[in-house]
Amino acid sequence: MATGTQRVGSKEDPHPRGRVRLGILLSGRGSNFINIAEHIERGELRGCEIALVLSNVPDAPGLTAARERGLQAVAQPSRGVSREEHDRAMLAHLQEHRVDYVILAGYMRVLTPAFLQAFPQRVLNIHPSLLPSFPGLDAQRQALEYGVKVAGCTVHFVNDAVDGGVIVMQRLVRVRENDTAERLSARILAQEHRLYPEAIARVLSGKYEARGRQYIPR
Ligand code: GRF
Repeated sequence: MATGTQRVGSKEDPHPRGRVRLGILLSGRGSNFINIAEHIERGELRGCEIALVLSNVPDAPGLTAARERGLQAVAQPSRGVSREEHDRAMLAHLQEHRVDYVILAGYMRVLTPAFLQAFPQRVLNIHPSLLPSFPGLDAQRQALEYGVKVAGCTVHFVNDAVDGGVIVMQRLVRVRENDTAERLSARILAQEHRLYPEAIARVLSGKYEARGRQYIPR
């Protein structure tokens, strides 16, 4: 059973060094990353800072956006490298930047058990479906093709099953008649941008208990 009963910034602060240091992992455009960065800048996501933005794709637009914001941004190319070797290199960057929590924001790789063991209950992901439906790639298209009437997005802890960890929060998005994957994806993304900062704040607050598959707010 994992517990997180302390509060950031309180006497029971689980992060005594001060602000919680986030490491963002991305492979693409990085709109979730930018949205999180803006929430922190506006003081709407408190008690944390972005210590590092890390990508396996050297020309990911999200890395450029990070540099434009003056954030530490590092590329660790994954092409032609084993998963284990790549994750070891990723871990080294995260540890060098004293990262406390890893936030996946469109990171298109499965993490190795060794990586996850280095951050127990400290890796979060956002997925554009109502898990456990439609894990993996092209979730919005999978949902449309299946014919669901309600889609959405999920923030979950990352474990060794693809999109399979404990669910922290979800938001619903109605499917419209004649929806396309692009239109549905855009409406889901708008909800992702509301959901992820809120879910991160909840997890960082430490006011929850994870019992089996249950995330129980306190
Ligand atoms: C989002 O749909 C997210 O749910 C998924 O990857 C996409 C990343 O988009 N994991 P962005 O790069 O954050 O814009």
